[in-house]
Amino acid sequence: MAHKVGILGGDGIGPEVIAEGLKVIKAAGVELDTVDYDLGGARYLRDGTVLDDATLEEWRGLDAIYLGAVGTPEVPPGVIERGLLLKMRFALDLYVNQRPFVSEADDVNFTVIRENTEGTYAGEGGFLRHGTPQEIATQGSVNTRMGVERCVRYAYDLASKSDRKHLTLVHKTNVLTFSGDLWERTFNEVGEEYPQVDTAYNHIDAACIYFVEDPQRYDVIVTDNLFGDILTDLGGAVSGGIGFAASANLDPSRNSPSMFEPVHGSAPDIAGKGLANPTAAIISGALMLDHLGETAAAERVMTAALELGNTEGGTAAVGDAIANAVA
Ligand code: IPM
Ligand code: MN
Repeated sequence: MAHKVGILGGDGIGPEVIAEGLKVIKAAGVELDTVDYDLGGARYLRDGTVLDDATLEEWRGLDAIYLGAVGTPEVPPGVIERGLLLKMRFALDLYVNQRPFVSEADDVNFTVIRENTEGTYAGEGGFLRHGTPQEIATQGSVNTRMGVERCVRYAYDLASKSDRKHLTLVHKTNVLTFSGDLWERTFNEVGEEYPQVDTAYNHIDAACIYFVEDPQRYDVIVTDNLFGDILTDLGGAVSGGIGFAASANLDPSRNSPSMFEPVHGSAPDIAGKGLANPTAAIISGALMLDHLGETAAAERVMTAALELGNTEGGTAAVGDAIANAVA
């Protein structure tokens, strides 16, 4: 039976890179039953829709969601990010954001597990005396034992199946003594269930140096939402560029459809020109195939994408080269 997948091309280069991803999936012989959703900044500017409850309910019946990029410079920051992307992650409880970084040329092969539903992203806080000289703005970080534990456990599971069986916690326990303490205790306690996994701890600032100078030390990394956001852009930069950075927003319990998207944004400056590299979207498609149980096709797409992602000639040329290789 064909997998039922919601397609959300979105804004800017989003639809262009998703078209190449779908081309490659088809070439790999996997049949998808797709449903298109016209959402993002452009839709919002047209009729004010960000994400309605009926659409969200409809998504619960899907097997997966494949997303390009959402956001346009004409829409104020936060409207689409919070109202669409983060709402999707939170409402569907996609609590793991898995971001693999593989580059033979850079001798890099590690995966960041970013907590995806809590931390500073949870939206705790607000204004007092807004717009006055006495204004106060707070933005709290929400860390629950349940939320941290399920993410950390997923990371240990992944590390226990890897060749190197190594897991690093990244945080800032020397300054964030409340949330850091919860993360560290949880990391150590869950670790007792995984004696086969070697562990390490790095402060976030030190991890930034290691990412640049010695990324080979990493196998699996687990970290909170905001640290993970920043660290994965850096991860892209040190492993073939952001054009290769893919992500899986997972609900490992499989109650909800997981969502697959490139890490890069909508890049309005190059949209519509056929210049965007679709490799990150294609690798995200491979992660989706793997999640859907199409493991052989997933592996073929992944291998071809890593090999041919730097093909010259623009968006369609890269997609064609990878599609030909997996056919
Ligand atoms: C990402 C993006 C999003 C995030 C933005 C667009 C809200 O940067 O997926 O990394 O911060 O999570
Ligand atoms: Mn980001």
